[in-house]
Amino acid sequence: MAAPTCSLSVLSYLVSLCLLFSLEKGFALQYKQTTNSHNTPQHTYTVQLSSLLPDSICSTSTVPNHEASLKVVHKHGPCSQVHQDSITTHDHTQILQQDQSRVKSIHARLAKKSATTAAATGRIHQQDATTIPAKSGAVVGSGNYIVTVGLGTPKRDLSLIFDTGSDLTWTQCQPCAKSCYSQKETIFDPSKSSSYSNVSCTSADCSQLKSATGNTPSCSSVTSTCVYGIQYGDSSFSVGYFARDTLTLSSSDVISNFLYGCGQNNQGLFGGSARLLGLGRNKISLVEQTAQKYNRLFSYCLPSSSSSTGYLSFGTTGSKAQYPIKYTPLSTLSASASFYALQVLGISVGGNKLSVPATLFQSAGTIIDSGTVITRLPPTAYSALSGEFKKQMSKYPSAPALSILDTCFNLSAYQTVTIPKISFYFGGGTAVDLDATGILYAASLSQVCLAFAGNSDDGDVAIFGNVQQKTLQVVYDIGGGRIGFGSGGCS
Ligand SMILES: *[C@@H]1O[C@H](CO)[C@@H](O)[C@H](O)[C@H]1NC(C)=O
Ligand SMILES: *[C@@H]1O[C@H](CO)[C@@H](O)[C@H](O)[C@H]1NC(C)=O
Repeated sequence: MAAPTCSLSVLSYLVSLCLLFSLEKGFALQYKQTTNSHNTPQHTYTVQLSSLLPDSICSTSTVPNHEASLKVVHKHGPCSQVHQDSITTHDHTQILQQDQSRVKSIHARLAKKSATTAAATGRIHQQDATTIPAKSGAVVGSGNYIVTVGLGTPKRDLSLIFDTGSDLTWTQCQPCAKSCYSQKETIFDPSKSSSYSNVSCTSADCSQLKSATGNTPSCSSVTSTCVYGIQYGDSSFSVGYFARDTLTLSSSDVISNFLYGCGQNNQGLFGGSARLLGLGRNKISLVEQTAQKYNRLFSYCLPSSSSSTGYLSFGTTGSKAQYPIKYTPLSTLSASASFYALQVLGISVGGNKLSVPATLFQSAGTIIDSGTVITRLPPTAYSALSGEFKKQMSKYPSAPALSILDTCFNLSAYQTVTIPKISFYFGGGTAVDLDATGILYAASLSQVCLAFAGNSDDGDVAIFGNVQQKTLQVVYDIGGGRIGFGSGGCS
């Protein structure tokens, strides 16, 4: 986009750093981060609501020099090849509802053992049983960030949602034996790829599908080809041949014999993309399949707005962050080894630490997920956060709730607003300031909401979602057993 002018103004003792962002939809807002002359960090961000610019043009930031870097774009923005028209308040409600389905499916997957026990004793609610397939090992793919990779020989470009909460990579495939939903790009045709091969039913790779998808693979009798099936909590699914083909990340990063699902029966609301790039921790995820090459190290930066771009890099911590990467130990949840877990110990709002005991977060556990939009907290912690945020925002008129977001403000009468900074305290003594774009979710300027929600139970796992990760360089150093965060990874 013709980058709206971002002025660096020096006013007596104030230096304003100006950042441009837009909140999920076609609005651009300007943020000023203030620091005083003594370099004491301020506990607020000054947000300039100077313009409601529909961002219809993509402003591409440079992808890091490292070879194995992919451009990350928002599914609903002008930088996406598969994007639809600009999104409405109705779409926001839908995105947030789908996000809630994803969170439910994550909780169901983590509670699988106890759910099975509950079902056996007849305690499972009908509603849960209908919305979450009992056997589902997959979480709903509501993820909204897309990368473009090449598949096959010659390579064909496909836009895939990248998802650290999923393991199996899959795409729709010709001849769509049963069904394909409409996608913007040409559907991949394995018969036109010289490097394509089917995985046999008897191979160890085929047996691995059970833990990655929750479903026992079946076998196509004609050619003894392994058949995967994956269903999501929102009743979408993909069934097809488990296959191998060449995956091209960049001209010098070509992965041969990459295992993925070649979908022949695909249904669901997949928003035009060809589907999923699985970055979870199971053996068949891209991260594990490339463990030799990239040493289980990858990093990404999610852009501040749908009209700017971020990146996803393999084999590097990336090097763009303006500040050093701060690390926190990576852990594993006993209920599922697929998720990336970390420890949240506390949260502060405008410099005030919430009086919520660290044990509350520790007993629930926390995962970091690229596919969950809104951060979910134990309800006790969320209500403390919301209460403190409202208190510090008390001069602004409130607005009705937006789906799962209940702390909203009508800011349409303002040029500038001052919002409290929010910081997360992670295990290992790591404090991370969220970017201003990681605090608010705006449907419109008359409905700007705190971008957090509470779980229904303090015992449910908390999720550090993708709004909160915006502009942070997030490093997954699996070998090193740590997750890192750097400020200013992208704009
Ligand atoms: C893969 O298996 C399917 C199902 O049996 C078959 O139709 C297809 O021709 C096979 N493809 C290759 C390249 O062997
Ligand atoms: C928001 O505030 C503006 C200006 O104060 C007012 O005109 C408008 O009706 C309000 N909108 C809502 C949805 O409350």
